[in-house]
Amino acid sequence: MKKITIAIDGYSSTGKSTVAKQLADHLGYVYVDSGAMYRAVTLYAMQHGIISKDKFDIPELKEALPSIQLKFKKEPHWEKARIYLNGNDVEDEIRNLEVSKFVSPIATIHEVRVKLVAQQQQFGLEKGVVMDGRDIGTVVFPEAELKIFMNASSVERAQRRLKELLDRGDSVTFNEILKNIEERDFIDTTREDSPLRKADDAIEIDNSEMNLEDQFHVALQLAKDRIAGRI
Ligand code: CDP
Ligand code: CDP
Repeated sequence: MKKITIAIDGYSSTGKSTVAKQLADHLGYVYVDSGAMYRAVTLYAMQHGIISKDKFDIPELKEALPSIQLKFKKEPHWEKARIYLNGNDVEDEIRNLEVSKFVSPIATIHEVRVKLVAQQQQFGLEKGVVMDGRDIGTVVFPEAELKIFMNASSVERAQRRLKELLDRGDSVTFNEILKNIEERDFIDTTREDSPLRKADDAIEIDNSEMNLEDQFHVALQLAKDRIAGRI
């Protein structure tokens, strides 16, 4: 069967990674979480004192970029691929609110984007890939056969993310999460390099009122139609 490239973009906590993973599992495609890569670079900068509450040293980070090696690893018994930063599994650590607070400023840096986009494009060389992020349909894979743009109300998104972080034992509040989501949305949509925007040929799904199953069925039908060449 013909393999296609599926690009899923949208705002934070709209369900992009959930639907991307479901589609990849169903179609036997590779799933790539591009946000995890920006988060891992951010974690590196935090761990090496390049960024902190009082410091944001862009030249130092640019200089460190060649020392940052990112890999995804997937074992058969794992539910999804995990990201490795210089050989260490950082999949859980990159999801905390501290990383979320720094990641969008880091993602504005042109040299960071150039490095990560090049690696993302390598993942897609043979098609059969579902990638989610902010610039997948506009920059990473502008020729993707299927582009989906996900949206939902910010209160709904903050409630979803809060549940996720509380379930794993993080101590966070609804207001902190809502503030972080709104700040990231602002930075991501207004940055100069590759701002988050719906590609002209993307199909928008607002899932404020949809559960995971409903959104998956909508996305799967779109993918099947594209693979069959119906739309
Ligand atoms: O899962 P969540 O929506 O919280 O975010 P993410 O996908 O893990 O992405 C974290 C941040 O990385 C975003 O807020 C963007 O600032 C940045 N990012 C980006 O600039 N380009 C991408 N393709 C993916 C993420
Ligand atoms: O990747 P992104 O940040 O866009 O979102 P996600 O990590 O896929 O989803 C964020 C949280 O919202 C997860 O806990 C999902 O299970 C939940 N979610 C939901 O409950 N209903 C939806 N329609 C979409 C996501």
